[in-house]
Amino acid sequence: MAGEHLLPDWSAYSMTPITELTELIGHSLIVSHIAIYLAVHLDCLTAVEKVHLFLGCLLHDIGKVAFPQADLASIQSEQELSELKRHPLLGYIFLRENKILPDIAEIALYHHERYDGSGYPFGLKGNEIPLLAQICSIADAIEVMLNGRPYQSPKTIKEIAEDFRQNSGGQFHPILIRLLRLI
Ligand SMILES: [Fe+2]
Repeated sequence: MAGEHLLPDWSAYSMTPITELTELIGHSLIVSHIAIYLAVHLDCLTAVEKVHLFLGCLLHDIGKVAFPQADLASIQSEQELSELKRHPLLGYIFLRENKILPDIAEIALYHHERYDGSGYPFGLKGNEIPLLAQICSIADAIEVMLNGRPYQSPKTIKEIAEDFRQNSGGQFHPILIRLLRLI
């Protein structure tokens, strides 16, 4: 709409409770480390791509700072959920406005896309989703399953492998899951 500012009020950053920021930073740090562990086993990325992967994973949820209390457990309505689903795009815009390289910013933009096209924000399918964003998405899922959330108990390694088996070809690229030996 003409005249309407697309960007959120980034002053929300200073209003986000420190516990939530700590949680977001902790999640992002673990996701980056898992992603690099996966990348080493993938054996097809250049050193520069691995650096981009690490930084992109560190910043993948930066768009969430626009949503104080952006924990799924506190989300009540469909409207709140669809608002929160704007975080990949908002994060991407923020990163690009701050001159972060496209390869890094695109990890934030595409980390909720799914192999079968059921993800967001664009519903990209298969190889349309950049490889680094697909690795971030897998690392993201591993962190959530390992540590659990208020709405989901932590899973064992065996249960995580079973989850990847079930979602191979759905949420995740089947070849990537096989190459990473996640099942
Ligand atoms: Fe996210």
